[in-house]
Amino acid sequence: MPFYKDHIYPYLVDVLGDPPPIREIRQKIIPLAEGIVLEIGAGSGANFVHYDSTKVDKLYALEPNPGMIRLAERQRHRTKLNIEFLDLPGERIPLEDGSVDTVVSTFTLCTIPGILDAIRGIARVLKPGGRLIFFELGLSPNPEVQRWQKQLEPAHLWLFQGLYLTRDIPSLIIAGGFQIEQMETGYLAQFPKASSYCWWGIAAPRLRS
Ligand SMILES: C[S@@+](CC[C@H](N)C(=O)[O-])C[C@H]1O[C@@H](n2cnc3c(N)ncnc32)[C@H](O)[C@@H]1O
Repeated sequence: MPFYKDHIYPYLVDVLGDPPPIREIRQKIIPLAEGIVLEIGAGSGANFVHYDSTKVDKLYALEPNPGMIRLAERQRHRTKLNIEFLDLPGERIPLEDGSVDTVVSTFTLCTIPGILDAIRGIARVLKPGGRLIFFELGLSPNPEVQRWQKQLEPAHLWLFQGLYLTRDIPSLIIAGGFQIEQMETGYLAQFPKASSYCWWGIAAPRLRS
């Protein structure tokens, strides 16, 4: 359904994706990005205003949905950032190995179909010492909430174009070759618990021996 995907879905993400509890965390973690930054699944550009433009040399905003890029263009004008849009999926990051200082993913690893390919690609493009800043939604530790998440997942997959409620994102980040350096968790926003369990933090590629 291209009309839904290109027009309605971007609008829904733009309107529902940044309520105050989520914005507070964006305000806390996005200014940690520095140097050459890659944001995967930049969406409608909700993070753009939170980057510290004195620390970011360039922001590659990877986003495969043209409807999202149209909305994100508006956010670009609210910042002094040097932004280049990359209209490809996160499973095929078109950047050189070891070329990025910070990768940012907010509510994208919970959506992206080929999550492990994307995480390995993130590790590939990061420079030594580079970091992944993540803020993601997924599987609650509470079995009762998990039951609801399993029931509600098909509707979310349709409404939010592939948004999984039952992914254990930290485990997948680790399986993709990272170690988690800092992480906080909690139920956020005014949404039901089934669609508001989040993790946010920083991960770094594990050193190969
Ligand atoms: C829930 S939205 C989050 C948008 C934004 N990051 C935010 O925090 O508001 C998920 C985003 O992932 C994007 N996406 C979906 N599949 C993707 C893929 N294969 N690679 C990269 N991004 C993808 C969607 O187009 C959408 O912009």
